[in-house]
Amino acid sequence: MKKDNNYDEMKAVIADLESDDKVQEMKEYVQHGKVSTYDHCRNVAKLSYDIDRMLHLKCDLKVLLTGAMLHDFYLYDWHNDDGGTHRLHGFTHAKTAAEKAKKRFDIDKKTGDVISSHMWPLNPEKIPKSKEAWVVCIADKCASLYETVFRR
Ligand SMILES: [Fe+2]
Ligand SMILES: [Fe+2]
Repeated sequence: MKKDNNYDEMKAVIADLESDDKVQEMKEYVQHGKVSTYDHCRNVAKLSYDIDRMLHLKCDLKVLLTGAMLHDFYLYDWHNDDGGTHRLHGFTHAKTAAEKAKKRFDIDKKTGDVISSHMWPLNPEKIPKSKEAWVVCIADKCASLYETVFRR
């Protein structure tokens, strides 16, 4: 099989999503250190793609990569001091992101679940139920740690 080092397959799956105005808006919000929410989501998509290929998981790439690109689609800057509305960000944003993603895009339940379960175990009742959800949940933690430690 031809090795795809340029993520062409991944880019093809998320091309429409990436050109969306609201997805582009994530570039305006800081995620960790110098990394925008958009770049963070793209890092998680890349890592999810790598994990799927490395472990031969044969994930549904549309579900996996759409879920990864939209997993933090909550569309606000959680660092802003706004009277405390975002104090519970860690606990609430997965649900917010899933709701906003469902409203804007025609995503199925499985993709919605990838988004809403990505903060497990912080949201203990939202256990990832598919291999796609597990991959995004793990890739998010690895990418977040990397971005926090090395990209400040
Ligand atoms: Fe998140
Ligand atoms: Fe994230």
